[in-house]
Amino acid sequence: MDWQTAQQRHAQLCAEIRRHDYLYYVVGRPEISDFEYDRLYRELVELEQQFPALITPDSPTQRVGGQPVDSFPPYRHAAPMLSLDNTYSQGEVREFVQRVQRLLPGEALAWVVEPKVDGLAVSLRYEQGVLAVGATRGDGTTGDNITSNLKTIRSVPLRLQTPPAPPAPPQGDLFAPPPASPLPAVLEVRGEVFMPRAGFEQLNAERRAAGEEEFANPRNAAAGSLKQLDPRIVARRPLEMVFYGVGQVEGVPVPPTHDALLHWLQRLGFKTPERIWLCHSTEELLAALDELDRFRKTLPYDTDGAVIKLNSLAQRERCGATAKAPRWAIAYKYAPEQAETRLKAITIQVGRTGALTPVAELEPVFLSGSTISRATLHNEEEIRRKDIRVGDWVVIEKAGEVIPAVVRAVAEKRTGAEQVFVFPKNCPECGTPVTRGAEAGVDYVVWRCPNPDCPAQIRGRIEHWCSRGAMDIEGGGEVLVAQLVKTGLVQDVADLYRLTVDELCQLERMGEKSARNFLEGIEASKQRDLWRVLFGLGILHVGASVAKSLSRTFPTLDDILNASMEQLQKAEDVGETIAQSILQWAGDPRNRRLVERLRAAGVNFQSSLYQAGPAGGRLAGKTLVLTGTLPHLTREQATAKIEAAGGRVASSVSKKTDYVVAGAEAGSKLEKARQLGVPVIDEAELLRLCGETSP
Ligand code: IVH
Repeated sequence: MDWQTAQQRHAQLCAEIRRHDYLYYVVGRPEISDFEYDRLYRELVELEQQFPALITPDSPTQRVGGQPVDSFPPYRHAAPMLSLDNTYSQGEVREFVQRVQRLLPGEALAWVVEPKVDGLAVSLRYEQGVLAVGATRGDGTTGDNITSNLKTIRSVPLRLQTPPAPPAPPQGDLFAPPPASPLPAVLEVRGEVFMPRAGFEQLNAERRAAGEEEFANPRNAAAGSLKQLDPRIVARRPLEMVFYGVGQVEGVPVPPTHDALLHWLQRLGFKTPERIWLCHSTEELLAALDELDRFRKTLPYDTDGAVIKLNSLAQRERCGATAKAPRWAIAYKYAPEQAETRLKAITIQVGRTGALTPVAELEPVFLSGSTISRATLHNEEEIRRKDIRVGDWVVIEKAGEVIPAVVRAVAEKRTGAEQVFVFPKNCPECGTPVTRGAEAGVDYVVWRCPNPDCPAQIRGRIEHWCSRGAMDIEGGGEVLVAQLVKTGLVQDVADLYRLTVDELCQLERMGEKSARNFLEGIEASKQRDLWRVLFGLGILHVGASVAKSLSRTFPTLDDILNASMEQLQKAEDVGETIAQSILQWAGDPRNRRLVERLRAAGVNFQSSLYQAGPAGGRLAGKTLVLTGTLPHLTREQATAKIEAAGGRVASSVSKKTDYVVAGAEAGSKLEKARQLGVPVIDEAELLRLCGETSP
């Protein structure tokens, strides 16, 4: 392809992908399948690989272009980012309206009510239509520059869309239509980054499976994600953004009202609130708040209230602001659904990674549609901070409307018989003194049992191995695993493969038929794909998706366990933390012995996902030069194999050449290779490098 054609195709692809991003993430009405989208995206990636000069900062491929950083530089907002005062009752809303009316005597007031999204406020700055900076609110004046992280969010446009020209004039009109409105030279646009509930649940499930600490609610998950120093991690988090305001705007007139402003933002490519209410009186306003309370429960993300804003921007100007908040807007907080019940006991759960989680055992109570008898207390710190005592009456709520959490103790109802909970110094399962500290990415507030032979951990590891997401061994649930461990029949997952019908039949409530079924399940698990094995091993940070990515990059378990820090990071989504964790696991002789016993049992270590491909092939990043006539392969065939393994074929030998493949009657290139000390290989060796044995 020549340069000009490449340039044209590049522009076309960028425009197409941007349009589909807009339809999918902003409007919510995709026009093509994910498959078709991926094809366009791949074509763009390949084109840019071939013509790197075409890459612009706003190319759709550059969403995850940023490098990990040590810290975020500060960023000063051109216009301050204010916060909002809160109201909690209809009375307070009436008072607010009266206050504003006193500031604007005799004027007609119109209001907009919109959902208050429970996320984090950020500001994006576009210069000449291109995203230049994205920053957190910080103290309102200065925030953190987190541009690379924000670019990974698909509902953040990397460049502004040209607002479409107004509708064509009626037929017969002789005037030319007015031109499309110009883009602002500078636009600071404000909105909320949030994580939808479904994405949050999925993320927590993955973290649970990978032995990582779960996030308490979607808002914490969004905040924790934006704090990541490596944008590749942020890119995997299901974050979205909704926009509701502007800061500095230069070069174009700002629409005169809030509803018009939101329409304008949407035409520029921004996702705006799903629904807003335009109200002209206090009564309309209060009715809108009621409607929004019903509406917000249908949204796929959490909202913690409503925001009431004066519609006219000119009137806002005249109201002004206090140091903290504007006088023309207010938040209205809906009371979260709560219930009161007795905290009967606090128990400690030991997970398969040894993490000790305190659990509130509650007098069952009905709350937002379900009966709740247990709630997480997260960690020791949380219990102390909230001063929650055993025997207390406690208020529980669905935090972020998802997980039941203990909000507070009702101190007024204390009788004096309540007891301060003493967090155990020893593992309740095995008695080993517990430890805590900052390990690879693991929070220090969590106490852990450091004993790998702790029965709770042993059970947890075996249950995890058998679980549907891992080796999928039918019957290997909590009850049976507990029996197997208690009777000493199974100490680790390799022991499963030595179990006999007779042994199983000796267990309580185990008939011959169930025993045989279980053994069949175990037998079948030997054929599972490598990623399931890898995930099943329960290496810290290696969840199902990381396991899949590793087994796309490496052909066998041995290749993964013997890989270097650098090689591991060739796998997509694998950064230093994950690589470190794998190295640590692989360096433990106990784990190595386990792997050998699994191998001896006949468990499959080969990946069927492995593709010798550009992303992770064995020759990834390598440059080869062909010279002379090879015994079996034509030049084209050899080139295809090298490329399929991720390598590149060059026409001349230089210091950057990794291998020269020499056949019969090789000439000057072979000579050059010898001079430069470049390794010379033959066809057979090439095939070995590509992961094949003979042509
Ligand atoms: S307007 C000066 N609109 O709520 C106007 N804020 O409690 C300030 N928020 O910092 C913000 N949804 O993070 C506005 N539709 C919405 C909002 C919203 C959520 C957040 C925002 C703000 C906080 C104030």
